[in-house]
Amino acid sequence: MGIFDRVGQLVRSQPATSKALAPESNQQMLEAHLSSLLASLLTMAWFVEARDPYTGGHLWRVSRFALLLAETSGLNKAQAAQISLGGFLHDLGKIGIPDAILGKTSRLTDDEYDVIKTHPEMGFRMLGGHPLADFVKDAVLLHHERPDGKGYPRGLLEDEIPLMAKIVGLCDAFDAMTSSRPYRSGMPIEKALSIIESNLGTQFDAKLGSLFIDLGRQKQLDLIVGYSDDGIPLEQCQACGLTLVIHKEHKAGDHLFCRQCTGEFVLDDVNGSLSPIATGRRGSASDLEPHLDQQLIANTVKQSIAAMPITDLTQAVMSNFKSS
Ligand SMILES: [Fe+2]
Repeated sequence: MGIFDRVGQLVRSQPATSKALAPESNQQMLEAHLSSLLASLLTMAWFVEARDPYTGGHLWRVSRFALLLAETSGLNKAQAAQISLGGFLHDLGKIGIPDAILGKTSRLTDDEYDVIKTHPEMGFRMLGGHPLADFVKDAVLLHHERPDGKGYPRGLLEDEIPLMAKIVGLCDAFDAMTSSRPYRSGMPIEKALSIIESNLGTQFDAKLGSLFIDLGRQKQLDLIVGYSDDGIPLEQCQACGLTLVIHKEHKAGDHLFCRQCTGEFVLDDVNGSLSPIATGRRGSASDLEPHLDQQLIANTVKQSIAAMPITDLTQAVMSNFKSS
């Protein structure tokens, strides 16, 4: 069974809406089609993230921070869900960044930084032919713009930056600060919030930044920072420090491999949660292949479809169809 079939089956096994639908109704078929379109985008984004083994769970965290901030800033459920999807997809263009630059642990040269700065345009071009491109393009193309005009790729000013891009950019920067890398620990939440505070109006939108700081100080980010899915904290390889991501589908006895040092772990049930125990063995090439977190994709699709009127999604597909 192919990846999309499996994700589609997971979405259908837990219907997105509570509306009673006649089997095979047009709406049900439309919902299934839109779910497949969304799943294809999210799957692409997930595999892009899998190229960079240092950033375990980054897309999920950015999408959750973005959902919270969008809701807190007064947007309705559908708008917040759209921005959250933008958070999941924002780094699509990293597919085009060479491994040597993406995984570099020391300071980037100016030339290397210029290569990094191509990823928003690259993501935008990748998205170009997708039927739901219009829905998330602001996040993909403009998440590195800054209110003071010093961002990229366009150098837009505060009022020119779309709300989705402002929210996703802020959440992306906060996750970069609070995430651990093998060569440095993530900073404490309060320290990252105070950095946002001192850059309000320059790097970060002042109003959104203040709301986000309030969320952090009210402890509403505590179950997202350091997690890769609802209720699943990140684990670390004891040998090399790389992040190990446990999926909802995993169970006690499953094997997990560190994609950096190839160390093998077996998952043990410790007081109801899974904990990786090193076996001392090494994984083979096939053990180290990234395995798509199908449940995470299916849940994200299901939550998005449930929050957004089908008509909005259909309009996005139709406007992309007309402009292509
Ligand atoms: Fe980015």
